[in-house]
Amino acid sequence: MANRKYIVGNWKMNGLRAQLSDIAAIAAIAANHDDADVGICPPVTLITAAVQANPDFAIGAQDCHFAESGAHTGCLSAVMLKEAGASYSILGHSERRADQQEGDAEVKAKAEAVRAAGMGVIICVGETEEERDAGQAIEIVTVQLARSFPAGASADWLTIAYEPIWAIGTGRVPEVSDVAEMHAAIRVKLGELMGQGSDAVRILYGGSMNGSNAAELLAVPNVDGGLVGGASLTAAKFAPIIEAAAEA
Ligand code: PGA
Repeated sequence: MANRKYIVGNWKMNGLRAQLSDIAAIAAIAANHDDADVGICPPVTLITAAVQANPDFAIGAQDCHFAESGAHTGCLSAVMLKEAGASYSILGHSERRADQQEGDAEVKAKAEAVRAAGMGVIICVGETEEERDAGQAIEIVTVQLARSFPAGASADWLTIAYEPIWAIGTGRVPEVSDVAEMHAAIRVKLGELMGQGSDAVRILYGGSMNGSNAAELLAVPNVDGGLVGGASLTAAKFAPIIEAAAEA
């Protein structure tokens, strides 16, 4: 049975209080499309206000430290994010892997900390363009997944996002056949890593998903939703993706 579609907006370092009205509009559209799950991960500064204004809408964080507290200037722990109102967090996004030199072991530790706080986890994996051109994409991504994979994983709280790095923010998307091949490989790897229950772990596609290509991408086997950057920043751009997910 196909999994229920899950669409998550990753706002990255975008959004001031003025954009809370977009979150409210997106939450209202999501409430009208209850055949799909929808969430937004705004900057931390907006989490509490977004949750207070939209208590039934799933607000998440974009990162989390692996420690519960301590001498980590500028960082936030899972319990802090949870207290702020986040119910899940994106982890291991390629921008963090590149900008903050996050490795797989750190992503795994973060995932376990976020789970321990009772929150959901979205782990991102993806290859560079050079790796794809060299024919290494599947090997790179499945190894990244295995090394980032948290202990005790369950579909109740774990989601995977496949995001080819070269497709993020570029307007380029892989061939549908390449998306299908990668998502199938991730599905097989999930089976090896966790056995029973792995089919229910949702695998999102991310990288230049928009209102024009969402329906086609969401129809690919093992594509259980999308992690959406640029096209999640306004309700007008995000709405057609939510609609495509509800109809998929
Ligand atoms: P994009 O970003 O949709 O703007 O390509 C996706 C992501 O990085 O999560």
